[in-house]
Amino acid sequence: MAGVAKERLKSPRVRLFVALDLPEEMREGIAAWGREALVDPALRPVAPESLHVTLAFLGQRPEMEIERIAAVVADNAGPAPWVELLDPVARPPRGRSRLFALPALSPGTEALQAGVSHGLEVAGLYQSEKRPFWPHITVARVRPEVRGSRRPAVVAEPPGELPAGLREARVCRRMTLYRSELKPTGARYVPLAQVQLPG
Ligand code: 2AM
Repeated sequence: MAGVAKERLKSPRVRLFVALDLPEEMREGIAAWGREALVDPALRPVAPESLHVTLAFLGQRPEMEIERIAAVVADNAGPAPWVELLDPVARPPRGRSRLFALPALSPGTEALQAGVSHGLEVAGLYQSEKRPFWPHITVARVRPEVRGSRRPAVVAEPPGELPAGLREARVCRRMTLYRSELKPTGARYVPLAQVQLPG
């Protein structure tokens, strides 16, 4: 046992999360809306290919766990959920906003998230968050007020409503385990394993 623990400590760590991917037309629709709505210079819009609903943020995990995590994620695949997007909201809701997100109305995503996080927790690979799951798609982060500061800049022109076409519910057929690489220009998400969701 001690040997295993030691070996695990030596394994390089990677920042991992499991996400529900969005169908291409939904990502393209959000990107097109964002080109008009996310124009405030304080905003850093999320790249279209990086738009997703996070199901479980695992944080730094030993690289050697990736295969086991991917297997547990695949074992807990549920039916492909329908997702309905709501108008953008700021987080935190009061004070200076740090990000803007589209809340996702989707009981199917909540069920999928419950199954995946429970499976990962039982396998000892994840500690689920105490706060309730909030299905959402982050569409923009707020730049710091000054370089290196933790205080976000003021957003004078927050994003407005979604167009009718983006409000139509769509089915999301893929779940992905991602590695997140933090770069000065923003995070890059590298898919490590993908699961097609049935139904
Ligand atoms: P967010 O979009 O609401 O910031 C990759 O970082 C993904 O994991 C993001 O979608 C992010 O959610 C989510 N995530 C959840 N908890 C996180 C945490 N503590 N740190 C960074 N990202 C987190």
